[in-house]
Amino acid sequence: MTKARILSGVQPTGNLHLGNYLGAIKNWVDFQRDFENFFCVVDLHAITVPHDPQVLAHDTRTIAALYLACGIDLQYSTIFVQSHICAHSELAWLLNCITPLNWLERMIQYKEKAIKQGDNVSVGLLDYPVLMAADILLYDADKVPVGEDQKQHLELTRDLVIRTNDRFGSPEKPIFKMPEPLILKEGARVMSLSDGTAKMSKSDPSEMSRINLLDPPDVIAKKIKKTKTDPIKGLTFDDPTRPECHNLLTLYRLLSKQSKESVARECENMGWGQFKPLLSETVVSSLAPIQQRYQELMSEPTYLQDVLSQGKDKATAVADRTLARVQDALGFLRP
Ligand code: TYM
Repeated sequence: MTKARILSGVQPTGNLHLGNYLGAIKNWVDFQRDFENFFCVVDLHAITVPHDPQVLAHDTRTIAALYLACGIDLQYSTIFVQSHICAHSELAWLLNCITPLNWLERMIQYKEKAIKQGDNVSVGLLDYPVLMAADILLYDADKVPVGEDQKQHLELTRDLVIRTNDRFGSPEKPIFKMPEPLILKEGARVMSLSDGTAKMSKSDPSEMSRINLLDPPDVIAKKIKKTKTDPIKGLTFDDPTRPECHNLLTLYRLLSKQSKESVARECENMGWGQFKPLLSETVVSSLAPIQQRYQELMSEPTYLQDVLSQGKDKATAVADRTLARVQDALGFLRP
């Protein structure tokens, strides 16, 4: 029986944080045996905001190495770089001509990022979800494992499937496969360490707001020590007036791989002075093997290059077939 297919990706903008790990990559690793998986480093998305050409290639390698270091297994999964496969840009253009402008103008992430950038906003930032739709649809993905913040982009992808299939396909011969989001209940929205009501994010100017996968142990301990908390003794998941408490207990639960009930019992009488060192220790010991494997991978550049080159070949074969199908349906002259 053929396995259902997964596609997902992360932008190579700086380091990955615990939100990226728990919301996306850890789930990719946990599910990979049950699916046929394509994981890309979405470097074309990374230039939708002003970027530094000196670091883009390095950051792209870093993210690919982190995929492997976190446990992506090439026996089940293909890792590739988005810009290595021309079909992504090309399908994005075809979809651009099918996408109504007002669908993009109402995207929450666009509005949030556009406000921050003022007059400097690029067309690429507005168009970002169309490129993301192209990433997903090229691989006929059945499921797309992401964090909560990508939900609206996936809804747009699904709307584009309906629109394109209605206009250019038929019920017997649809052009695109309908993808489903795969968003888990826990870990899908890891919150900032400085504000339990805001998402942990790469673009937060304060480094203290997030824990990066490559942070050394002393930095992790310092960040957790400074985390915003409250003066209440006794820790609980379920008090809506204590968002920081919910967030930190959830981090502890996911990284220590315990049930919610067992963490709730362990922490019900704890104060922050006791909990914070426990959380630090758990984060440090969960990230240590990832950091070690990452260092090994970065010291073997030819291995990583081979992985990405094989990934490119496998991904190209699939993506080019889909692109040809779409070009035929839209009526382009074959070369
Ligand atoms: P990006 O690079 O911003 O984030 C990568 C993944 O991490 C998840 N994530 C979080 N999850 C939980 N809590 C958080 N605080 C948190 N912050 C980020 C994101 O939801 C995402 O799953 N547009 C995408 C990249 C992309 C993509 C795709 C994803 C491009 N093409 C095709 C899936 C399929 C993005 O910018 O993710």
